[in-house]
Amino acid sequence: MKSKGRFGPFGGYYVPEVLIPALEEIEAAFEQFRQDPNFLKDLNALYTDYAGRPTPLYHARRFSEAVGFIVYLKREDLLHGGAHKINNTLGQGLLARYMGKTKLIAETGAGQHGLATAIVGALFGMETKIFMGATDVARQNVNVHKMKLLGAEVIPVEGGTGTLKDAINEALRYWTAHVEDTFYLFGTAGGPHPYPTIVRHFQEPIGREARQQCLEKAGRLPDIVTACVGGGSNAIGIFSGFLNDPQVQLVGVEGGGKGLHTTQHCATLCTGTVGVLHGARTYLLQDENGQIRDTECISAGLDYPGVGPEHAYLKETGRARYVSVCDEEVLDTFFLFSRMEGILPALESTHALAWLWQQKGLLPPETIAIANLSGRGDKDIDIVEHHRPLTARFL
Ligand SMILES: Cc1ncc(COP(=O)(O)O)c(C=O)c1O
Repeated sequence: MKSKGRFGPFGGYYVPEVLIPALEEIEAAFEQFRQDPNFLKDLNALYTDYAGRPTPLYHARRFSEAVGFIVYLKREDLLHGGAHKINNTLGQGLLARYMGKTKLIAETGAGQHGLATAIVGALFGMETKIFMGATDVARQNVNVHKMKLLGAEVIPVEGGTGTLKDAINEALRYWTAHVEDTFYLFGTAGGPHPYPTIVRHFQEPIGREARQQCLEKAGRLPDIVTACVGGGSNAIGIFSGFLNDPQVQLVGVEGGGKGLHTTQHCATLCTGTVGVLHGARTYLLQDENGQIRDTECISAGLDYPGVGPEHAYLKETGRARYVSVCDEEVLDTFFLFSRMEGILPALESTHALAWLWQQKGLLPPETIAIANLSGRGDKDIDIVEHHRPLTARFL
């Protein structure tokens, strides 16, 4: 372990020796290419012409009317692949290419990062393996199908709860044995250094654009910026644009699952304690012996017992606040928001919307809130149908 990549007491890289040269190679390449004019030209062209950046900042008028204050949505759901994940996979995929790597591996929870990696693997002609927990393979099968259509191999991981934590364990294990030619394209702002820094960097356009667009549309900065937090990449992407604006409240929303009074949730920053998981010192859901607790939450992308170390730091310093909403509130908001705005939000993103819904009538009407709509809900229709069948509701 070395002391690089620290966010206060959090972060670092607690990994097996065999991975240290690989992580250092990625770090060096990132430092070299992040300012390289050719790299930047290629990346910006991909962001614009392939992924669809900049994404709009949309005034959600009917939702705003219902909650009694002004809500803007940062429309990352409109990106190619249906989520913010493509910002990071284009960045890291291009980096892998500049480094001369020929193979990509990735973990995935909701399948959105796996899909975004499969897209980039196809685009760059790189062999791609996606590790995915068996539970998630079953509940996000539309994305599994899409990854396969794009030519990626999807490897179901049977161990543990069959969710994101287990997929990361397996991907790290595989990488340890194939480090020479394989680039591990990590999907969130967590894991060992340099991933939290790299992933944040490639997600920063969200915050940069949102800040500028809010100034143009509303004539001032927002009062609140909110985003869901799984590992923390979409949240750190949008928060990064406002970190130096102390008047802007930053609110991260975690998966409260069946409620914080149960153990069936994923509210790591709200209820966790500090430890080491997947190479970083951060907040975790663990028992008194340091064993990682099983998590459960309606949204596969938030179903993770750790969180990126920069969020741990933002919590400790008080710059950001972390809250949770539970599955039932998420489902309520999914239905009402879809029918008010004509947008099916990803269940992950719906956590941020559900928190805004809880603020209904509590904030002055001139309040401006931006919610990061990190993805679209097409992947979630089976889950929603399972919990709240349309036939039972509307017949
Ligand atoms: C649409 C969407 N939003 C959010 C997340 C959570 O990830 P992160 O916290 O890294 O943004 C996921 C993860 O799969 C996702 O698919």
